[in-house]
Amino acid sequence: MKVIRTPAEMHDLRAELRRQPVSVGLVPTMGYLHEGHNSLLRRAREENDVVVMSLFVNPTQFRAGEDLSTYPRDEERDLAIAEGSGVDYVYAPEPDDVYPAGYSTKVEVEGLTEVLCGSETSRGPGHFAGVTTVVAKLLNAVDPDAAYFGQKDAQQATVIRRMAEDLEFRTRIEILPTVRERDGLAMSSRNAYLSPEARERATAIWASLLETESVFAEDGLDAAVDAGRRHLEMAGITPEYFEARYPGTLDPADGEGEEPILVAVAANVDGTRLIDNILIEPSRTTRRNPE
Ligand code: PAJ
Repeated sequence: MKVIRTPAEMHDLRAELRRQPVSVGLVPTMGYLHEGHNSLLRRAREENDVVVMSLFVNPTQFRAGEDLSTYPRDEERDLAIAEGSGVDYVYAPEPDDVYPAGYSTKVEVEGLTEVLCGSETSRGPGHFAGVTTVVAKLLNAVDPDAAYFGQKDAQQATVIRRMAEDLEFRTRIEILPTVRERDGLAMSSRNAYLSPEARERATAIWASLLETESVFAEDGLDAAVDAGRRHLEMAGITPEYFEARYPGTLDPADGEGEEPILVAVAANVDGTRLIDNILIEPSRTTRRNPE
């Protein structure tokens, strides 16, 4: 495994790879790797000749006052995990090389980035502009055949798919299922912040989504979302949002059709902001007394 530190080196590598008949898979990460990241690396390994993992805590997707300076980092451990998962190249540039003096360009997806995590009462649309800008740069630098993202960040996945389609990136965007701890908590680098007490309470997040799914089958969407919210509040967690939307457009869901419904939640547990979601498939849930 080789570590690449600058965009210039990455461009040289890409030029070299282009002379060979190889497929390239990219897994973008901010490091502090866990099984969620690993599932993406494994899929990339299965589907490609060459696997590149990027490791870059992207400053532009953090709002002032968010956890940029304390975001957990352990490069040595990340490199060992990446090597163990069969990564060929880790692209780990410095912020000053990604955004050198004079850097002025942003990639923004409208609409989709103004709801849920993008609303002003949450992280704001600027968060996603940071994400799409850095992902656009990574897709240009690595020019992968496929890039792998997690359903855990459902809105991020929707926004990146939209950007890739709108800007005619030729990379296939693949979204893989959320990997969870045994008690259901979605794996996240930020789980490292949780005290044992908060870690225990955080299990209510996934439980509230399962509650939503089961009430949906019985009583419909409005009752289901109410029940999910109540479940969280009973655990002493006030969600920042708890909403049902259609996954492709992020329009509010009414739950009347057969389209899958994304129920997404963000909640602050003792100072740590956690997100999770569930996809409910109306066609696969049996409604009692559907009339
Ligand atoms: P990061 O939070 O490090 O996540 C990297 C990738 O891993 C994302 O696609 C994310 O959705 C996925 N992931 C995280 N937790 C997961 C889980 N429990 N199960 C499955 N996949 C999971 O997301 C980012 O970094 C950044 O925004 C990035 C896309 C790298 C741009 O800076």
